Amino acid sequence: MGGQLSEELGTWAASWRHRHLLGLESLSAADITTLLDTAEVLSGRFKSQGQKLDLLSGKTVANLFFENSTRTRNSFSLASKRLGADTIEFASSGSSVSKGETFIDTAKTIEAMGADAVVVRHATPGTASLLSEHLDCSVLNAGDGAHEHPTQGLLDILTIRQKRGSLRGLTVGLVGDIAHSRTARSNIWGLQKLGAHVIVCGPATLVSRKWEAHGVEVAHRLDDILPKCDVLNLLRIQFERQAIRPFPSVREYALLYAMNAERMRRAKPDVLIMAPGPINRGVEITPEVADGPHSVILQQVGNGIAVRMAGLWLSINANCNKAGVSASDRS
Ligand code: CP
Repeated sequence: MGGQLSEELGTWAASWRHRHLLGLESLSAADITTLLDTAEVLSGRFKSQGQKLDLLSGKTVANLFFENSTRTRNSFSLASKRLGADTIEFASSGSSVSKGETFIDTAKTIEAMGADAVVVRHATPGTASLLSEHLDCSVLNAGDGAHEHPTQGLLDILTIRQKRGSLRGLTVGLVGDIAHSRTARSNIWGLQKLGAHVIVCGPATLVSRKWEAHGVEVAHRLDDILPKCDVLNLLRIQFERQAIRPFPSVREYALLYAMNAERMRRAKPDVLIMAPGPINRGVEITPEVADGPHSVILQQVGNGIAVRMAGLWLSINANCNKAGVSASDRS
């Protein structure tokens, strides 16, 4: 990497004011662009160097997962290691939570072991924000209930930007269980800030008209929006968050909303097919589409490491420099 890129990294680190990464709703378009640019530079630097970077050498990142995860947990862990940090891997099952220790006491205990950043996933909306009020270290939200999943939004947006060059003017369809999806929320805030038109699509029981007040188009028939979407992001039906089944059967849902070979023929010829994963093959997407030439699902996974490197590095730097951060910037 040349001196110019090193200079850019230094400029971004010096200007980044956010000690925590809690959601995309509270970030500006410039903030999101800085995260994406930093992700590109850090992952490019790691690849060209062929070895770990030492940007977080001597720092410790703790993964606190109170919900299951494959992609987010492992990519935060790998991102930390690629930056030279040590990691603490906490899983609620098998921990002293079963003995009655509270969520905040658990997090404070892990912080007392020397964590410079805590990455937290929890079923309750607002938990990452709550932790940020109780800990001195950086807090990064790895998914809080149906509220936000900021690094998922960032990796989705980075993947689109890599494929299309810019978000401005693109139409992105988010299809499926919008009501229970933290990924949908982070995508909506981030995509809109970067100039994309967002359509949310799914059964009326899972897609509220309230989104129209935020400038989001609402649709209930996938077939109606297919010809105008540049990107389709197919969200999983989150059965684990639903009190009542929102449609008569999974088979009926798949008939109306699964992206399949026949629907691909009616979509734009260069449509991008995305899914945050885990995917339910045959429910929101059929295997020939998930594994087909339009799918960027595995590129999304790779970009997860890049955006998490950026989020960790920028947040920890801002926390180290917090003496110079004004109270209003301490978000
Ligand atoms: N997309 C996502 O958050 O996947 P995991 O639940 O596997 O982390």
